[in-house]
Amino acid sequence: MVRVDVVHQPIWEIAADGALFFLPEDFAIDGSLAYIEQQFYPHLKNVLARHKFLGKSGDSFTLTAPVKNDLVQFVFIGQGQGATAAARLPHENMELLRRAIGLGIKELNRLEIKRTVIDITRFNLKNLGVDQAELIRQLTIAIRMSGYEFDTFKSEKTSSKWNGEVILAAPSFPQALVARALFEGRAIADATDITRHLADLPGNIATPEYISECAEQIAAQYNLKCTIFGRDRARELGMGGFLAVDAGSEREGKFVELLYSCSDKNAPTIALVGKGVTFDSGGLSLKPSNSMSGMKFDMSGAAAVIGSMRAIAEIAPNVNVVGITPLVENMPSGHAARQDDIIQHMNGVTTEIESTDAEGRLILADALAYAEKFHSPAVIIDIATLTGAVVVALGHFFSGIMSRHPDLQQQLITVGQRTGDWLWPLPLHDFYQAAIKSPVADISNTGDPKYGAGTVKAACFLSRFVNNTPWAHLDIAGTENGIPDAPHLGKGASGVGVRLFVDFVKNFKK
Ligand code: BES
Ligand code: ZN
Ligand code: ZN
Repeated sequence: MVRVDVVHQPIWEIAADGALFFLPEDFAIDGSLAYIEQQFYPHLKNVLARHKFLGKSGDSFTLTAPVKNDLVQFVFIGQGQGATAAARLPHENMELLRRAIGLGIKELNRLEIKRTVIDITRFNLKNLGVDQAELIRQLTIAIRMSGYEFDTFKSEKTSSKWNGEVILAAPSFPQALVARALFEGRAIADATDITRHLADLPGNIATPEYISECAEQIAAQYNLKCTIFGRDRARELGMGGFLAVDAGSEREGKFVELLYSCSDKNAPTIALVGKGVTFDSGGLSLKPSNSMSGMKFDMSGAAAVIGSMRAIAEIAPNVNVVGITPLVENMPSGHAARQDDIIQHMNGVTTEIESTDAEGRLILADALAYAEKFHSPAVIIDIATLTGAVVVALGHFFSGIMSRHPDLQQQLITVGQRTGDWLWPLPLHDFYQAAIKSPVADISNTGDPKYGAGTVKAACFLSRFVNNTPWAHLDIAGTENGIPDAPHLGKGASGVGVRLFVDFVKNFKK
């Protein structure tokens, strides 16, 4: 794992074998760069330009110099647009910086640097749209996420994972601010690690029981209230959707609830609900094998909720948060739900199962109804790898967001821009509700193909399970892994949702 620390010294007072510079296209030779120019490389800007380093996104170049008894590598990474370039918005500059960080970490690994410094007083806060604390949080998270790789089961660890140390040099930043920002950044980075690891674990290991045990351990460690139940209690509660998907599997499903309570008795509650299909074979509506690969990631929503709850417990915001994850395996068998089956959900709504592969909405239906009934939350946000259609619509950079509450939707989009968990809205409009009519039950779990809009139809289905609570649905089928041009996300599951949820909860105002 990459370690990140902050010190209150200028970089040349810190013992290190590397110094990493992120330079925008209009960079000036001042501060720490002027020091390097004076000490080691006269005409530094020309030297860099001669080597085609212009600060563009994707540029990188290294110079080596003897410092004291050692060799130090100065690694220059292009940060893209600079402060004088008007075209980009601050949050887009921040995303370019995250990518540059990913590239930088790869370079440190390639050059076998053990310990590197970054002069963070060089960053233009206005250009990046951050204050000092946010800069430290975002750098810490991006550095840590860049170094993630799922190599638990490799006998020989690959060389693509860097285990070094990054020292952020911030001589002028206030001590207390730095300590808190670093603490929060680390808490979020730790949470993304856990979320990504859970998501990357295959279905034969990360079973509903295994994941519920992880949640239980986190609860014990961070003083969260944890409730776990299986088939029997689900039957008592009338969770027909959960039971129908669970029925086909040899491994019993688990419904997990993690509760963080703050000290304020009158504080509102935020409910986070995550789809936890530990493997989605499609059930009797079996997926073709090429579409089935990658379906171990179908519990990424649940993993995001569980990881977020850990960071939330650490950061201890002044709001209550309940994390709810229905965990099941969607398998075909003699016990499995059939096409044409009619089931009844916890809130009484009946569903015709037209496809057993549209299973996520079946389990989320009961989880949403459960969240509203037992927690009367101020808001509900669900997160799910729900539809292949969202990948067609938005690709891999933006998760789809659907909500009937424009304020909540906008708030989440803004938090997404700040944190790098980008969201783009799709219309959860009443016109689409007609698409999920069923001739034999209240609703169908696939809906009429002539309406198209598979992602919105899934959201329409979920909407029948939330009454009046402000609610937003996030479809992360395109963002849970395999995001192109994202070196800052390392390798494997992306951990989508954790940065978003923790920031949203931390800044929540009723
Ligand atoms: N887990 C899938 C959605 C998915 C697809 C996630 C690709 C990640 C990548 C979901 O359960 C599913 O199978 N959805 C169906 C719905 C259809 C049967 C109405 C889909 O999108 O094809
Ligand atoms: Zn499915
Ligand atoms: Zn699924």
